[in-house]
Amino acid sequence: MGSQTMVDTTAAPGLDEQSIMGDPGPTGRFGKFGGLYVPETLVPACKELESAFREAWADPDFRNELDDLLRNYAGRPSAITECRNLSKELGLRLLLKREDLNHTGSHKINNVLGQTLLAKRMGKTRIVAETGAGQHGVATATAAAFFGQECVVYMGEVDVRRQALNVYRMRLLGAEVRSAVSGSRTLKDAVNEALREWVASVEDTYYCLGSVMGPHPYPYMVREFHRVLGREAFEQCQSYLGDVPDVVVAAVGGGSNAIGIFSGFVDTRSELVGVEPAGGAAVGRGVAGVVHGSMSYLMQDEAGQVQEAQSISAGLDYPGVGPEHAHLADIERARYEAVNDAEVLDAFELLARTEGIIPALECAHALAWIVRAKDELAGKTVLMNLSGRGDKDVAQVQGIRDGDPEALQTVDFGDGQGLPNGHGS
Ligand SMILES: Cc1ncc(COP(=O)(O)O)c(C=O)c1O
Repeated sequence: MGSQTMVDTTAAPGLDEQSIMGDPGPTGRFGKFGGLYVPETLVPACKELESAFREAWADPDFRNELDDLLRNYAGRPSAITECRNLSKELGLRLLLKREDLNHTGSHKINNVLGQTLLAKRMGKTRIVAETGAGQHGVATATAAAFFGQECVVYMGEVDVRRQALNVYRMRLLGAEVRSAVSGSRTLKDAVNEALREWVASVEDTYYCLGSVMGPHPYPYMVREFHRVLGREAFEQCQSYLGDVPDVVVAAVGGGSNAIGIFSGFVDTRSELVGVEPAGGAAVGRGVAGVVHGSMSYLMQDEAGQVQEAQSISAGLDYPGVGPEHAHLADIERARYEAVNDAEVLDAFELLARTEGIIPALECAHALAWIVRAKDELAGKTVLMNLSGRGDKDVAQVQGIRDGDPEALQTVDFGDGQGLPNGHGS
């Protein structure tokens, strides 16, 4: 196993300026993507947030407090596990970064602890959040309980049904869960509701956004809060492999777990691969446009209307992607692939059977691509971000395998091949 040393998040000052994934500056631009496309009423709130974040991030007391929470509350560092059985089966060397082992069961806690600590510093007593799979909602409800903050989580009505376990967990943690009933009643609609609520109550309310998307400073700030996972993985690979992996793979919804792990390797020789669901392949199939406050690739029709995404996994059921991913695709530093729901179900079961690890359906996408690309990856060392554990998905997968019509409604068995606009490979 890799070294389990805690990575000091206060380390490496100046790294930002030299990295491909640097500071996007006051306009929040990653190449031509990013920015701040919000109603006028929200501009002061975004500006206030940016300066509060920059000030906190430069303050060693804030960084030390966050570090302490990551270590002693979230349980970092997360392990690296070598998959000996599956490696043999696939003909490559597969390592997992075990974000499933964090408190609350996914990478989401890294960002949430950063943001709720920032909310406390800003004197905000109420937190709103959106959630898809419920993992960000659970992490937010957890941190709000810890800090004694009031918490409201918006979740699409469809997701409320398919992620019932996480809805109950959030309520148990004292959060109010509100169903978003517009549009496709999934993550996109939950973000709309949360943004609306923020506009209406910005005085005392902090919007804890769950991925590297939305208006500036969110894509930058959320990336910085997830950097710890990339730094840890880099150091663990150095001590365990004496090298970086040949390929780093992560699932991409909004893109936060992928950005976190990519940040540790973007300035090295490692190839970076983001895996999207075929029905929500914003980088692979999308066109540049504005959604939820920033310019990025998104799935839209000829009239520019945002198209509904369709994915078995609630956490990836989103038609857009964080702007830094759009930029990394444009400069060809990362490559984006798409897999279909059938491949994901197989990968979900494969990891459970061969390694005794039940993955979240989100990161089962990353494994599905590795399985498909095994010939191309033969003999290579592949680091995959296991962004979360699959307990929340077990009932859904069981329903699908048992032919339950309601569970089957969440699956699209179309093919995941072919990325017409050429952003993928
Ligand atoms: C375990 C897990 N992985 C990945 C994601 C996708 O989000 P992101 O692309 O921001 O990492 C989610 C979202 O809910 C999730 O729960």
